[in-house]
Amino acid sequence: MHEKQLMEKQLVGARAAELVEDGMVVGLGTGSTAYYMIQRLAERVRAGLDIACVATSRQTHELAASLGIRILDVNQVEAIDLTIDGADEIDEHFNAIKGGGGALLREKIVASLSRKVVIIADSTKRVKQLGKFPLPVEIVAFAHKHTLKKFEQAGYPAKIREKDGTLFVTDGGNHIVDLHLGRIDDPEGLAETIDRMTGVVDHGLFIDLVHEVLLAEDGDVRLLKK
Ligand code: 5RP
Repeated sequence: MHEKQLMEKQLVGARAAELVEDGMVVGLGTGSTAYYMIQRLAERVRAGLDIACVATSRQTHELAASLGIRILDVNQVEAIDLTIDGADEIDEHFNAIKGGGGALLREKIVASLSRKVVIIADSTKRVKQLGKFPLPVEIVAFAHKHTLKKFEQAGYPAKIREKDGTLFVTDGGNHIVDLHLGRIDDPEGLAETIDRMTGVVDHGLFIDLVHEVLLAEDGDVRLLKK
């Protein structure tokens, strides 16, 4: 990662933690940008901020809990006031690709339960058109080779994700297929097509789920609203 990108992640992460108010139920995202948000949020909690949080991954749960942030099971909360999460790409309509870290399913569930979703993004994440970043799709382990083949047959170049020489396993016990599409002309249509495929659990296209984007740009941070 370039130093500029790292600095932007730190900047935008820390700034996002300032959006959290006393008494909120907060959804905590996953990834390196979310990491900096969680670090700053933990400082605020130590200084007296009273919040409860739900985590979008085991990794985030462990990190936040280790820093003294109160984590609830998502079934214990009625709703989530604010979720702050990273993204792999975000376009001008606030549609996003997520799941680079493999947490897309819990991220999408938490986003869908949230009154407000803010994406925290370094400047590399803002794109005119989605699709340069491979689109992650979570698939069940059963018959995964056949599901992979169906993506190829549908014309989507697909690669099953591996980690340390074995298949990547998500928090839900599933696998991830990354679709190398190059560009996505119709995100809504593609989302519907993938949703209809048997064996698919969910995909990393976040359509109409994001309300605001906190973007690092030119050494500063801008809050973009729809
Ligand atoms: C994890 C995600 C992350 O939010 C996304 O990959 C961005 O990560 P980072 O902040 O490390 O660039 O969707 O599933």
